[in-house]
Amino acid sequence: MNRRDVIAAAAMLAGSAMAPMAFAQALAGPSKRVKALIGEMTLAEKLGQMTQIPGGRQRALNSRLDAAMLDRVRRGEMGSFLHVAGAEPLHALQRVAVTESRLKIPLLFAMDVIHGYRTTLPVPIALASSWDLKAAERAARIAAEEARAAGLHWTFAPMVDIARDARWGRVVEGAGEDPYLGSRMAVARVKGFEPDGTARRVGILSCAKHFVGYGAAAGGRDYDSADISDRTLHEVYMPPFYAAMQAGTGSFMASFNDIGGVPMTAHRDLIGGMLRGRWGYQGIMVSDWNAIRELIKHGIADTPAMAASLALRAGVDMDMASDTYAGYLAAAAADQPELLPMIDQAVERILAAKERLGLFDDPYAFGDAAQEKSPLDRRTARDLAQRSIVLLRNEGGVLPLKAGAKLALIGALADDASTTLGSWRARGLPENAVTLRTALPSAEFADGKDIAKAVAAAKRADIVLLAIGEDYDLSGEARSRSDIGLPGNQPALVEAIKATGKPIVAVLMNGRPMALEAALKGIPAVLETWFLGIESGPAIADILTGKVSPGGKLPMGMPRVTGQMPMTYAHQATGRPANPDFAIDSARYRDVDIGPLFPFGHGLSYSRFEYGAIELSAQTLGAAGTRITIPVTNSGAVEADEVVQLYIRIPRAIPARAVKELRGFVRLTLAPGQTKRVTFTLTNAQVAAWVEGAWTVPGGRVELMVGSSSDDIRARAALNIIERPRPGSTVAPAASIETKVEIA
Ligand code: NOJ
Repeated sequence: MNRRDVIAAAAMLAGSAMAPMAFAQALAGPSKRVKALIGEMTLAEKLGQMTQIPGGRQRALNSRLDAAMLDRVRRGEMGSFLHVAGAEPLHALQRVAVTESRLKIPLLFAMDVIHGYRTTLPVPIALASSWDLKAAERAARIAAEEARAAGLHWTFAPMVDIARDARWGRVVEGAGEDPYLGSRMAVARVKGFEPDGTARRVGILSCAKHFVGYGAAAGGRDYDSADISDRTLHEVYMPPFYAAMQAGTGSFMASFNDIGGVPMTAHRDLIGGMLRGRWGYQGIMVSDWNAIRELIKHGIADTPAMAASLALRAGVDMDMASDTYAGYLAAAAADQPELLPMIDQAVERILAAKERLGLFDDPYAFGDAAQEKSPLDRRTARDLAQRSIVLLRNEGGVLPLKAGAKLALIGALADDASTTLGSWRARGLPENAVTLRTALPSAEFADGKDIAKAVAAAKRADIVLLAIGEDYDLSGEARSRSDIGLPGNQPALVEAIKATGKPIVAVLMNGRPMALEAALKGIPAVLETWFLGIESGPAIADILTGKVSPGGKLPMGMPRVTGQMPMTYAHQATGRPANPDFAIDSARYRDVDIGPLFPFGHGLSYSRFEYGAIELSAQTLGAAGTRITIPVTNSGAVEADEVVQLYIRIPRAIPARAVKELRGFVRLTLAPGQTKRVTFTLTNAQVAAWVEGAWTVPGGRVELMVGSSSDDIRARAALNIIERPRPGSTVAPAASIETKVEIA
């Protein structure tokens, strides 16, 4: 490798003047212990700390912990393992590190604990549908407690990638399309994983991933290139990361994708410059799986040593699974001595994390064999699952089901315990999951593989519950699809059941919003249930029978057809807005209706809600904040939840703004006849746009819209922006800033 090449490449990847600030922040104040250790470490030991190796496979944990691996631990040349678990095996492994290695540095144990460890809870897109931040926090808390009992220190969650293309299979793991909702969910989940801000006594380290732009993969193809404008990057994709950082997340993971040709694993500008520099982040930056070595395939490095050097220069502290740092950085550093302080700095961040977790004082603090076998938290699992369900359509009051109605339950997914667990299942087991079939024993079940049998069952029933969608293996990592309609024989099954003329309730089970306009045509009731975890069946039954009124809302719009992807409610205005009149040339497709089938924020209830007029504490918007109050009344007959949503629009600005942007929400529970007054406090920093590298508050007017979905606005008002802070006086992305909500 040629040293000049690496430096030239690194300089090119840095792009702007931001990079020099990169490492300044993190250098502030390592503890004495960490400093002393670094002083004693050999280069091989340092590179070992920067190395994370799979100790097993995702479905065969601990299976790679062989003699050679243990020797490496003894030599002090290993910092962290992933795909390992279990209080006893991990204590045994830790013992090798802290009693048999020279410097006795404890290991860090990591795993993808995404939506539950043993108690499998709703998948993240489902939990985001709850719009319930306490629920999201509780879910992360339960996952963290169970994972901690199994000896784990670190989870690779939350995934905070915004995604506007449902072909991308990983939408199942995120909070949907909106940066404001995504930011709040990111904060809730980080707080749940790291309740005391360090995970020292409770919880485990969290990881905001994948930094950044991973959800913008071209064509929705996982791992593909992202080509994002600077504005969209900062206004849409960055906010949840900033919010997660502010909430105290212990680590970040660099994403697989490149942005405009610069792979994130080597992105000095965004990691070193923005995250470390401007934002001042001090936690660990881990690469994604094998991503450092993959810089060669990306086409920016021609040797593993060059790849390692570029990743280090960008600010990636830990190498997940590629063993490139351990294998090649020493040689690279012999050639490029300026890498040595960067290595020290990476080690410092990793040791600081181990110290904050308390591992130097008690390396066995995580892992409790008795607690590891504690009973599953079914009650919370059911509650969270109920909160995650979204009623998309309910014509003629088909739901809730009338008592005594004869039910047919049709569709293999209704009986698929494995699918209720979603794609990341940690230690979740299908035998612990209660399916809809089990929860509704009186319904006549047909799996739908034999369509004639299913039709016969439908004909014997008063009403058909039709479970349709995708099984767990069709969404998740590397599970992008070019057609997000119903797979297999389901379209034929749906048409055959429709032909019986029986009323149908479609119960959707899926990890992504699907394109179902044709399939759902003529079906009066539609329930989106995603993958709800071990209490999936009982929770869906609670909603179907009316024991609980549905209160979830879509965190991502559902398209009519796949060809509409990508899409978002928060789109830019155009000179020729979509028009239903084909005589007018406009920004739309000719062969499909305008907009989504079900919009962002949509979700019905068994009750009705009336919104009053907006009251404002001032007609102006400044730094101190303006209070926006609206009364909301349950005018129906049952207790129910409503998610009150605040959107803004700046009708005139350069650059122009999106037609709507979410800036506040709250999920309320209201008894019949009850009114609650919701007050949102908005500040001027929350309406800023990213203009030429700085957050800039526009002048003029902000329109306020409060309603029940992005497409169901019930009240409007406007404010004049009076104070305009100096551009660049804040680093917080506008959508990352929390809108205070009060309820009276
Ligand atoms: C690759 C995925 O992109 C990432 O999210 C995950 O944490 C790692 N594999 C480890 O399993």
